[in-house]
Parts: sequence; C-alpha cells; structure tokens
Amino acid sequence: MKIKSRIAAVILCPMAMASAADVVSPAIIPLPQKMEIRSGIFKLTPDTHIAADSVSARTARFLAARVREVTGYPLNLISAKSGGSGNILLTTKDADTNLGLEGYALTVTPDSVVIRAPTQAGLFYGVQTLLQLLPPDIFSTKRVTHEDWQVPCVQIEDWPRFNWRGLMLDASRHFFTVQEVEQLLDAMATLKMNVFHWHLTDDQGWRIEIKKYPKLTQIGGWRPGVGFGLDPKSTTAYGPDGRYGGFYTQADIREVVAYAAARHIAVVPEIEMPGHSLAALAAYPQFGCTGGPFTIPLQLGVFNGIYNPANEATFKFLDEVLTEVFQLFPGKYVHLGGDEVPKDTWKNSPACQALMKREGLTNENELQGWFMQRMEKFVEAHGRIPIGWSEIMQGGLASNTVVMDWIGGGTEAASAGHDVVMAPHRFCYLCYYPSLDRPPNLRAYRPYLPLSKVYGFEPIPAALEPRYRSHILGVEACVWTPDIPSLSDVEELTFPRVDALAEAGWSSQSARNFDNFLQRLDVEYQRLAFCGINYWRDNATQIGEWTPKKISGPTNLLEWDATREITAPGAYRLSLDYTSGKNPLTIQWAALWENGREIARDAHIGFTGTSSRAVKACDWNYYFDLPDLRKGARYAVKVSVAGGEGNDSTGVVFLGREKAR
Ligand code: ACM
Repeated sequence: MKIKSRIAAVILCPMAMASAADVVSPAIIPLPQKMEIRSGIFKLTPDTHIAADSVSARTARFLAARVREVTGYPLNLISAKSGGSGNILLTTKDADTNLGLEGYALTVTPDSVVIRAPTQAGLFYGVQTLLQLLPPDIFSTKRVTHEDWQVPCVQIEDWPRFNWRGLMLDASRHFFTVQEVEQLLDAMATLKMNVFHWHLTDDQGWRIEIKKYPKLTQIGGWRPGVGFGLDPKSTTAYGPDGRYGGFYTQADIREVVAYAAARHIAVVPEIEMPGHSLAALAAYPQFGCTGGPFTIPLQLGVFNGIYNPANEATFKFLDEVLTEVFQLFPGKYVHLGGDEVPKDTWKNSPACQALMKREGLTNENELQGWFMQRMEKFVEAHGRIPIGWSEIMQGGLASNTVVMDWIGGGTEAASAGHDVVMAPHRFCYLCYYPSLDRPPNLRAYRPYLPLSKVYGFEPIPAALEPRYRSHILGVEACVWTPDIPSLSDVEELTFPRVDALAEAGWSSQSARNFDNFLQRLDVEYQRLAFCGINYWRDNATQIGEWTPKKISGPTNLLEWDATREITAPGAYRLSLDYTSGKNPLTIQWAALWENGREIARDAHIGFTGTSSRAVKACDWNYYFDLPDLRKGARYAVKVSVAGGEGNDSTGVVFLGREKAR
C-alpha cells in the first residue's frame, strides 16, 4: 500500500528516520500540506480502542464503524481521559487553531495514533487520512481476515487551500437513486471534498418534490423513454407505467442532506431558471411565454423552456418553490442556474417586450439580468447566498451573488468583489471523455479531457490581481449526464479525474506533481476497486501540439519527443486530438523512433476533426508495440499529416501506455 515517491515528502524537521533516498510516500489523496514520514509502524489489533473527547464521539464512531466492518475488531470507544498506549485518540483539546476550520494534525507513533483538530470537520479529515494510511482493503465492502493492519509512523499537519471543493451531479438528464447519490458522497468524503452540487431541475426532468406544486414531479419527473439515443436497457430508472424518470421526495432530500452533513459535505441545490425549464413548464404551462403545451424533450438542444417574466404569477411560483427548497437545504448557498437562456422566446413575446419597455431594459440580456437579480434578492432576503453560472453576469448581479465560472467571467466577477467557484469546462467537466478510445459502453461529450490536463488545473485565474484572489472560493467538478444513464458510467467518468480536482482544491500548488500523483493513484485504484467504484484508467500525457503553421504544406512531417513517456516495454497509444478549426486533418501514418531509427509504424489513414467521419471512426489513435525498452535511448514519434480539405486545424498530441488490449 506504500509506494516509493520520486519527490521526497515535505520534511518538517530532521528526525531519526529513513534517509531521503528511502522515503516511502503514503498514497494520500489529496496530498497533505506537511508530512513527515518516520520509521516504524502502528498496528491495529483486536485490542485497539478509540478514545475521544465527548464532542468528538460522533467522528470516533464513524472511524470505528468503518474499521470494525472490515477488520472485525471491536474498536470500542472509550473516553479521552483513559486514552493511552496502543490506542487511537481523536480530540479537539489543545488543537492548534491555526489549522483553521478544516485542518488537523495527525501523529502516528508505534504506540498510538493521535488526531487533533480544532473542529469536527478537521478531525473527520484526519480520519480520512488515517484510513488512507491503512492498506487499501480498509475500504472493502466485505470482511477482510488476512490483512496486517499497519499504519506507517507519520507526522502530518494539513489544511485545505480552498473552502469549496465541489462535485456537481446532473440528476435531471438521468435519475440517480438516493443510495447511488450516497455512494458518491462516500467517495467525496475520502477525498476531503465538501460541496455536493445537486442539479435537480432541467428541461429533461424535475427531480425535487415540491408540496405546493405536485405536478412538478408527477408530470415533470417523467418522460416517455430514456432518450438521448441510449439503449433502453442502459438504465433501470423506470416507473411502474414504463416511463423513464423518478424524483426525490422531501424525505429523500432530508436523508441525503443528513448523510452529507455527517461527512461534512454541504449540499447546494440547483433550481434552474429562467431557461432549462421545460420539465417545469410541461407541468405548469401557465408560467411559460406561450402558454404551451410544453413537452419534456428526449434530447438536448430544445430551446423553448423559458419562464415568462411578464407574468407576476411566475415569480410567485418560483418564490414558493424556493421557500420549500430553503426548508430542505440548510446550507448557505442556493444555485439558480441562469445559463444558456434562449432569448428568442422573449424577443417574440409582446408581453415581454412591453415589460422591457416599462422597466427601461434595452435588450433581452438586460431582461435576464432583471429576472435573475429579482430572484437573487429573494434568495438573499431569506438569508442565503445565490449562485449562478457564468451567464448571470450578462445583466448585472445582486450584491452577494456568487458566480460559477464554466465559460469565463470568474476573473471579472472576482475583480468586482464577487465570490467565484471555478468550474471551467475545459478542465472540470468530467463528462468530457477521459480517453480518445471512446469506450464502447460509454458515450460522453467531446472534447478529450485527459487526467493530466485535469491535474494541471490551477483554480486561481492567471489574470486575477492578487488582491482579489481570496474571492476564489475553490473548484468544482461537473458531471452532466445526458449521455450517462447509470451510476457505473458516472463513476467511470468521475474517477480518477475527480481525485485530480480534489487535489487542486486542497493541496498547495507548489507541492502538486503529476508523476507523484500517478504513483499515488496506483493505490487509489485499489481503494476504488475495494469500494466497488467503477473508474477509468488512462495515463496518457500531452507530448505536443499542432497549429496551422505546422501543417501548411501538402504533406507535413511532425515530430515530438517521447523519451519521458516511454518508460517500459508494452503497447502505446498516440492520439492526435483536434481542438479547433473547420477542417479535419488527414493522418497518413505514425511511427515510433528509437535513437534515430524507426522501430514501429501504424500506417492506417486517420482523420481528426469535427466531421462525423472523424468523430465516428475514432481513428486518430495510433498504436505501437515496444517489445523491449532500450535503457537511456531517446524515443520520438513522427507523424505524416495533410490538411486534406484545409489546413486550419489545431490540436494536441497525447501518448500513453495502454492497458492490455
Ligand atoms: C452549463 O454547462 N450549461 C453550465
């Protein structure tokens, strides 16, 4: 369960311990702020007790339950006063308040484990680190009898870089049960993530029971089929009448909120407005601009689901919906959506045009601002903080509104004094596919978002002046589910890329290192497997790029160094991933070179671009077999390409070691 680290752990002070060359880095994700590995081990035994002060008893019970289930040891709880040798102590007493609201100190010696933190959140995170110091089968869903439950001796002081370490799940496009949501919450907790953003309403489904408006779920929660061109058998979320869908009762919501709170995760509900509202309008067409009828679509890209701001009853409806939402979700933040608002309906509505005239609004963007600010102020008046996607900046913001940056605006919002959560789609949309080999069971949106790129994400925008940096609350991973009908598929897209974003949210920028992360992932994969979580494994890294300048000739020979990536014999995949331009690039062949000599060639004709031919064929992947690795050799890949129908494309080139094919 331990791995040799290529970068030494952060050493607090020189102690009598293993030399730097032998430093063995435990596979903790996210990487702790300060960690010193000492010699020796602590061993869990059937006699180990957990001691806790009274305020920490709940966290102690959480630890005991996990360890007891797997080891079968009794792990009895005793009071902190009777702590002592051979035991685990969880306490807030004498904790260093400089560790902050989520920090902790963890000391493992051969005789004891002590987790000290100013808050229960900090203690809980100390427990997560302790679990990650144990062998990975501590996460097993079954009893394990053959394991030696050892913990390496360490001294850790740890706290998060950012307060917001989120995961968004789109439960509208596909429905996930309470149990499935709770499985994700469990996984988030192990990564010290603390915000679950629950996308509960959209065009394709309304998923939250609202007592005052029962048709929202009776009608808005169901559609005629799974939709999105998916195999009907790819999901089991069908009602007794065969319709696809489902919804969370208010009791379900309370259960999830409590389950999350026990893991120090705040749940942020999202109620979309003014667009993405077809499911609501299918149930209550009187709040739309045309009066309906509206139908729930079975695909994306239907753009008439927009509320009517010229009807006061619309605001009464939304206020009453949100009033029930406030009662269910005790957290500070409520997300109002605000993205991708189709304005044509407002343009064509005489009532909306009359409203704009009355209010002195010169265009529909200003009408969106008027709409959103009214709702933002309603949220603020109820003591909560509104959030919206990038587009809510179009018409101005209420004073406290938080911007969730998916397509920009974060720098501007933070510079204007607004808090910002960074979720730029190019780094944080885990529904983008993790591999250029589109897995046969898994459809996801383009573009390619490899683990290495996610890992490289820096949440503070480069252009942001230092004085505004504190407005960046943190980072969020987003999983949109139109193409993702099952939890297993959600997991395959989410893990391990969410591990990378968890580390971006928690660990210091300077300590992050992709090679070291990959090594820790080797253990994390085992943990995920023991948890029963499906995950994608792809270690491809970017080795280069192409630009129109490099492909201007009728044919062009491109070359990239691959010495760093070719580290072992085996199968390698080279992927030429188109990123922009009108025309696909034609690939004539790709070859692997070793010390100036060609040793492998894949000569199929490939295309990379937006054309359906290129997208379907997946043939921008080239494979090489390397039977033997020549130590110290220089490796390179060479590719012959032609613009074909044009030479305006840009793209990035990835090389990765393949799983056995
Ligand atoms: C979004 O992806 N429309 C926020």
